[in-house]
Amino acid sequence: MKDGLYNIGEFASLLGVSKAVIYKWEKEGKINKAKRIDRGKTMYRYYTTDDIRDVRLKMNLQAPTVNKRKQLFLNFKGGTGKSVISANYGYRLGQHGFKVLMVDLDPQGHLTKCIGENPESFSKTLFDVIINKDPIQSVISSTKVSTIDLIPANLGLSPIELSLTGLHAREFKLKRALADIEDDYDVIVLDAPPNIGLLNLNAILSVDDILVPVLADFLSYDGLKILFETLRDIEDDFDYRLENIYIFLNRYNESMKISIRSRDAIKKNYPDYVCDTVIRQNTTLSDATAQGVSIFEYAPNSRASGDINKLVNEIYNL
Ligand SMILES: Nc1ncnc2c1ncn2[C@@H]1O[C@H](COP(=O)(O)OP(=O)(O)O)[C@@H](O)[C@H]1O
Ligand SMILES: [Mg+2]
Repeated sequence: MKDGLYNIGEFASLLGVSKAVIYKWEKEGKINKAKRIDRGKTMYRYYTTDDIRDVRLKMNLQAPTVNKRKQLFLNFKGGTGKSVISANYGYRLGQHGFKVLMVDLDPQGHLTKCIGENPESFSKTLFDVIINKDPIQSVISSTKVSTIDLIPANLGLSPIELSLTGLHAREFKLKRALADIEDDYDVIVLDAPPNIGLLNLNAILSVDDILVPVLADFLSYDGLKILFETLRDIEDDFDYRLENIYIFLNRYNESMKISIRSRDAIKKNYPDYVCDTVIRQNTTLSDATAQGVSIFEYAPNSRASGDINKLVNEIYNL
């Protein structure tokens, strides 16, 4: 279903109860009756993300707890899946009823596009907050899902590297900006641009966790080494410790020897950081992106939605 709407199966599963229980509660008037859409001959029952919060409250169901987290999808190499996976990862957290802020840090606006918005339709980006000192609230936009907000990006963000250079405390501008609103969110998901610049340094110093998508090839393996060295240098220079680094393989193809070999090499060399979850190669993911919808709306039963769901569950212990 579309736009943060769920059929009864998805709804029950997000609440951790059976469909029969939902029917029973509706019948007993303990929760609101499902809304209905007229689709020709049949009236379809559906639920929204707000219904999830409402039922949890009414039926005293434990919402999955999350320690508030700020998480950056980072890899200095382009094309590893930062934008596509972060968009779907954030979307899934929103489906669980967490309050999510997605932050696009790439002037190419790929995260913004993946969420189904047109980057150029926004007049402001983080440039206006960090350089022009506009309040961060003025760049936060709501999305079609009530639990998910977005800070979009477009070409207006591109002069930020140069503009940051001359500023005092230039490494901490993003951290300070996010401090004004972070209490409003359970999770803040940031999508990094593919370079080692000041904006990425700001991003790294703003977050608790870093999520690193890597492709299963040997060039990516080298890239990982550089990424870890850079992160360690930043931690030392700024006397700062990241809480978690999660590496996960993306576009994995188990029928290719290179995939298996590089997975083994990464596991061997970064045993404390590699997720069990692997995101397999699946073109449905690009198809969904091209339509500007999440994989959970476009193909809820696909391999890709299963894999991304698993990644969320692994990282949040859901
Ligand atoms: N698991 C996957 N299966 C198939 N295509 C993928 C997968 N992950 C990413 N892609 C595709 O790879 C391309 C690069 O992904 P993207 O998220 O833009 O990378 P990055 O943000 O790291 O540059 C996109 O076209 C995306 O649709
Ligand atoms: Mg990207």
